[in-house]
Amino acid sequence: MKFFLDSADVSEIRRAMDAGLIDGITTNPSLLAKVAGTDHDPRDVLAEICRIVPGPISAEVVATTRDEMLREGRDLAKLADNIVVKVPLTEAGLMACRQFRSEDIRVNVTLCFSAAQALLAAKAGASYISPFVGRLDDIAQDGMELIEQIVQIYGNYDFPTEVLVASVRHPVHVVQAALIGADVATVPAKVLHQLMQHPLTDKGLAAFLADWEKLPEAKRVI
Ligand code: G3P
Repeated sequence: MKFFLDSADVSEIRRAMDAGLIDGITTNPSLLAKVAGTDHDPRDVLAEICRIVPGPISAEVVATTRDEMLREGRDLAKLADNIVVKVPLTEAGLMACRQFRSEDIRVNVTLCFSAAQALLAAKAGASYISPFVGRLDDIAQDGMELIEQIVQIYGNYDFPTEVLVASVRHPVHVVQAALIGADVATVPAKVLHQLMQHPLTDKGLAAFLADWEKLPEAKRVI
């Protein structure tokens, strides 16, 4: 399973990259606006991220019509070779996706909330589909059931579209996605760090080191 960081925060991204924990990045207009603020050009932030992380970097259009999405997406794709253009799962987004694929521009179709939508995205040639599991859970629907459906449908027809589980709220989402066989999980920095944490690990390490400290100082050498 590949791990992408769901962030536009360069410091978070550098830390995760230095730790060797991530294979790519997903951003969205909200994440990018939060970081760019009034001080930075969003395109400069994206270009910096593309320099830090060699893997796929999802950058989302903000246009809502096909032609404007194509203009924005072509501009985004020029920022770096590892840019993946993100489009919403709308009619215009699917039309733009099909055209981008004919231009060898990789597409991440986002804001997916149903298997029917995911099927259309695969048929439109999406490189990635982003079902938002957390936002479904938030309204008492089963986000992981959607992932199961998409993985099964894509397997039935050998679609090459990668299932990129998004809107991840906690480590259980990641483990469930891996058990189902999703290709990618994109996670916030908080969840990425939660994945490696366990209180028994901390307790066990403390006990090992405490026992080691009981040796005479001259013997505490490995
Ligand atoms: O960036 C796409 C998705 O991961 C956002 O999820 O629900 O935390 O805003 P959410």
